[in-house]
Amino acid sequence: MPKFRRAGLFRLAVLVIPALLMSPLTGRAQRLPTESSGAMVASASRLASEAGLEILRRGGNAVDASIATGLALTVTYPRAGNIGGGGFMVIRHADGRAIVIDFRERAPSGATPDMYLDASGTVVPGRSTHGYLAAGVPGTIAGFALALEKHGSGKVSWAEVVEPARRLAAEGFPMTQGLARDLRGSERLLASFPESRRVFLRNGALPKVGERWVQADLGQTFARLQKEGPREFYEGETARLIAEDMARHGGLITSADLRAYRALERPVLRGTYRGHEILTMPPPSSGGIALLQMLAMLEPHDVASLGHNSAAKIHLFAEVMRRAFRDRAEFLGDPDFVTVPTAGLIDPAYARGLMTSFSPERATPSEGLSAGRPAGLVATSPPTGHPASPPAGSAETTHYSVIDAAGNAVSTTYTLNGLFGNGVTVTGTGFLLNNEMDDFTSKVGVKNMFGLLQGPANAIAPGKRPLSSMTPTIVVKDNKPFVITGSPGGPTIINTTLLIITHVIDHGMSATQAVDAPRFHHQWMPDSIDCEPFLTSRDTQRLLESKGHRLTNRKLYPNDPEAAARSWGDGETILIDPQTGRRLGANDLRSPDSAAIGY
Ligand code: GLY
Repeated sequence: MPKFRRAGLFRLAVLVIPALLMSPLTGRAQRLPTESSGAMVASASRLASEAGLEILRRGGNAVDASIATGLALTVTYPRAGNIGGGGFMVIRHADGRAIVIDFRERAPSGATPDMYLDASGTVVPGRSTHGYLAAGVPGTIAGFALALEKHGSGKVSWAEVVEPARRLAAEGFPMTQGLARDLRGSERLLASFPESRRVFLRNGALPKVGERWVQADLGQTFARLQKEGPREFYEGETARLIAEDMARHGGLITSADLRAYRALERPVLRGTYRGHEILTMPPPSSGGIALLQMLAMLEPHDVASLGHNSAAKIHLFAEVMRRAFRDRAEFLGDPDFVTVPTAGLIDPAYARGLMTSFSPERATPSEGLSAGRPAGLVATSPPTGHPASPPAGSAETTHYSVIDAAGNAVSTTYTLNGLFGNGVTVTGTGFLLNNEMDDFTSKVGVKNMFGLLQGPANAIAPGKRPLSSMTPTIVVKDNKPFVITGSPGGPTIINTTLLIITHVIDHGMSATQAVDAPRFHHQWMPDSIDCEPFLTSRDTQRLLESKGHRLTNRKLYPNDPEAAARSWGDGETILIDPQTGRRLGANDLRSPDSAAIGY
């Protein structure tokens, strides 16, 4: 064969073989995770991930970096990043010690169980979600300060971890696509509070993508926190501004409430799944208990052989989700106020007992499904009622994952609850407040903004923490961190976290495959499987319907600019290759500004 023909055939092979490997016959090409050999930060904002890396480069550990990223998210991702809300941090030190920092918001001292009801006992729409009355006492600054003091490297100071956020706020950054979209999308909420209209909508002159976005008041708030220390938020000028704004607008949070706020260390909740150790969030989140219950219910089943997103697998998972959410509604609340039978609920034998009513052929109707009877149970009146609609879309929280070169791992989920919280910017401070009070039971049998039915265990009381679904989690394999994950999304958080973990462990997916895969969600009530676009084929859906499931398909339109609104979750995840130790980061493409970066 002439030389030029051989060269031509070689060139053809070079072009065609990779194309065949990516053809529909062999599956879609997958995006690669971000790789690093040392540290990595994955968050909903590239600038906030960079803030964490900046602290790591100065010698800080994963805890120090997590604080810097969390503070920076307040500036670059105000829909959920916050100092006016609260959340949870699961920390695993490289030497194996693990702990949780609980900085969940607390109900103000003036809160009462019926504060969201009118005189006839009916829930007043919007009272627990919009405006001053919806806010719990913020915990983020106290939580970050406690984490830094007890688990930081000691090599970077409070002022240093605050600095990237202060700089981003005071000097500004180019308006991002995601932030511009968020501000536009929440114009109505933000416009209903004059300070939010001034700060976040520039009184109607929203900047275009790429224009510099400066937040002078927020920069000043961070400068005060740097100078005076974290208690400034609770006892200094910032506390005064919060309390005065509350008093002017009929809110409940007082100077005394702020002064009394303390973040807590709690023991991490531990479980196992197919030889992996699961470190996750105990009450006042329901997330960890539900996650461990679901994993225990799945363990006797060969999930891998059911096949990814087969009807049999989605059916099994929906049944497992249904049962865990039934228990959530009945038993869970703030453990400092009610007895939560945690050990009984996560006992694998108990979880397996919940599945005795499982049939591979038929869906178990949620109506009439009774909760189990875990050991240590204190009976409450179960919630009743049957909300017909799936969970509302605006579920705003954010999750980020961090690992440092030494192997310290931190999984943080924190929140304002709704998108831009209660819509209120505290006058003169530049930050938004949460509407976390809606996570309490406003009235037994009436769904909250997530369509969740909750019980008396989660009733409102002064100083109490509302029940959460946040599920920051670290999966450990052979005594080393393996997966750091979690998600926003109200109740969908728990199921998104479950899916990411099982995608990796059962199906052997890469970090990016596990995060990218379309999600589904069942929360007992309403009795339907909520499906992200492209979850399954129509014939798979018909098989599920033939088992008795109702499916709610999120719509997706061609070239839909708001596609993210029809998806849910933002599972910023890091997987650590057990063989090489390389960090493999997967930012979640549902969040346009997200980034996993490392060095
Ligand atoms: N605010 C959402 C959650 O904590 O579950």
